Amino acid sequence: MSPRPRRTLESKDGAPGRHGPGMTEVTFDGLVLLGAPGKVMTPRPASEQLVAAAAARLSGCGARVADVGTGSGAIAVAIASACPDAEVWATDTSRCAVLLARANVRLHGLEDRVSVRHCDLLEDVPAPVDLIVANLPYLPVSSAAEHPDLAVEPFDSVFAPGDGLGPYRRLVDAARTWLADDGELVLQLHRRVVVATRAELPDLGTALDLGTTLAAAAA
Ligand SMILES: C[S@@+](CC[C@H](N)C(=O)[O-])C[C@H]1O[C@@H](n2cnc3c(N)ncnc32)[C@H](O)[C@@H]1O
Repeated sequence: MSPRPRRTLESKDGAPGRHGPGMTEVTFDGLVLLGAPGKVMTPRPASEQLVAAAAARLSGCGARVADVGTGSGAIAVAIASACPDAEVWATDTSRCAVLLARANVRLHGLEDRVSVRHCDLLEDVPAPVDLIVANLPYLPVSSAAEHPDLAVEPFDSVFAPGDGLGPYRRLVDAARTWLADDGELVLQLHRRVVVATRAELPDLGTALDLGTTLAAAAA
């Protein structure tokens, strides 16, 4: 893969770029992006594995990709940057996240290939897609005290009710409709990447129901 041009927030005359109050510069997968700490989850290095897993599956044939729960748009921007033929739909239920993700898409000049939608899961993504990538909330609300490092993040970007896996269960269910026949789902769970083909989705749903997430097709 050829090296990607490094974009920064510097203005044309080389002065540091201006970004709004409360915004920061974050680096993800070698790309400089805007962050909004406290409002939108700051992308973590562990999620770069999702980009690598996605890029390894996209063979430059105009694949259609969905990044569900895009947050800052980091994963969507990184996949589109690594795969110049891919078309990406990025979704989030948080308005702040959608605005930030759109700003990051513009920053990297990817408006023609990355579309950011304010919706639940895949609702506004035209089916079928070849690859669904997601780092959705998966930690149980009851475990919040065990994760002081996440206290700065918007609560519902990382925690979900019950066992925390409700968002992924609903996504696995929706993926049965949205994924192309030979499509794949790539999920981040507990800092691990889980990959399932369309044919494996029913089993993955069962694995999530049983709470044995890491046993499911771990890559
Ligand atoms: C753990 S953060 C990850 C953000 C980003 N993918 C990353 O890795 O930096 C999860 C994101 O999913 C969004 N989200 C939660 N439930 C969602 C849903 N049902 N549909 C779409 N987005 C959702 C949250 O608003 C949040 O931005």
